[in-house]
Amino acid sequence: MSKEYNIAVVPGDGTGPEVVAEGIKVLETVEKKSKFKFNFKYYNIGGEHYKATGEILPDNVIQSFSESDAIFLGAIGHPDVKPGVLEKGILLKLRFELDQYINLRPVKLLEGVETPLKDKGPDDIDFVVVRENTEGLYAGAGGFLKRGTPDEVAIQESINTRKGVERCIRYAFECCRKRNKAKKLTLCGKTNVLTFAFDLWDRTFQEVAREYPDIKTDYAHVDAICMWMVKNPEWFDVIVTDNLFGDIITDLAAMIQGGMGTAAGGNINPDGVSMFEPIGGSAPKYAGKQVINPIAAIMAAQLMLETMGEKEAASWIESAVTKVVREDLKDVAAGKMGFTTAEVGNLVAEYIRQTF
Ligand code: IPM
Ligand code: MN
Repeated sequence: MSKEYNIAVVPGDGTGPEVVAEGIKVLETVEKKSKFKFNFKYYNIGGEHYKATGEILPDNVIQSFSESDAIFLGAIGHPDVKPGVLEKGILLKLRFELDQYINLRPVKLLEGVETPLKDKGPDDIDFVVVRENTEGLYAGAGGFLKRGTPDEVAIQESINTRKGVERCIRYAFECCRKRNKAKKLTLCGKTNVLTFAFDLWDRTFQEVAREYPDIKTDYAHVDAICMWMVKNPEWFDVIVTDNLFGDIITDLAAMIQGGMGTAAGGNINPDGVSMFEPIGGSAPKYAGKQVINPIAAIMAAQLMLETMGEKEAASWIESAVTKVVREDLKDVAAGKMGFTTAEVGNLVAEYIRQTF
């Protein structure tokens, strides 16, 4: 019997449904040439659904997700919903409940894509950020005292557990070994100021490093990383960091890889159910216009296949995307591609159909 993957699909809000449709189109094309089968099950959650029903993320949906092989997400976010409601209620809740403790962000400048960095090309911008995804300042620890009064106190604490830090660092070492590039892992922290949290990170990093003599290690403060990423992005192979620093540096990284049009990410539980998404968000002003670039969503599908162990199928998508971006698209930015969202999906699917 052929292998079957049950994929939970969440088109979500804004441009999410449009780009998810192209990701699915490409996955279905790949499926026809492979020995595996996909069962896609669609879920209606997100800002629109919340506004219509008041429901955010029901327990039975989480249960159903936890029984799937992976989750493919478009975008969650709505301009009329108060900031934090959907983020905490859906995205962070899923990360925590499914223990997706790694946020994986491959950063690669594809050929033919323009980077804002002068004199840098595809050979210079090719690294991965491994971000801790369940702890740090995202853990939700803290509270108010005397809220709304002149004596108000707000505390938000960064939670760093030995277990959480170690499993993230270990994943980063493994990722670095598998990439087989410069074999260099850089810890991004702030050991000069955050002398508790990053002392734990640094000690753990040094200890785990002993088990990986084939990997060179390096350290940079988060502010310096922002500088080096712009000045010498070629220095990086894999970067490992905490939740908030990872959030910030991966948006910078998305820009040097040419913008949100090609940036994909994975929320990964290596022993459980992972979730893959284009990282550009719901972009409400572009919704329904067929102008957004689906390459990021298609690359999220690629990352999903790779993570599930379908390396060959993943490599087909990567080759097709590389070709289409290099030879067909005028630009990767929304509205400037020279094609509609669906047409870009067609180009990728067609290349796979004809080539593999
Ligand atoms: C991301 C996003 C999320 C984060 C938000 C939407 C909660 O910015 O995936 O990087 O901060 O992690
Ligand atoms: Mn972010």
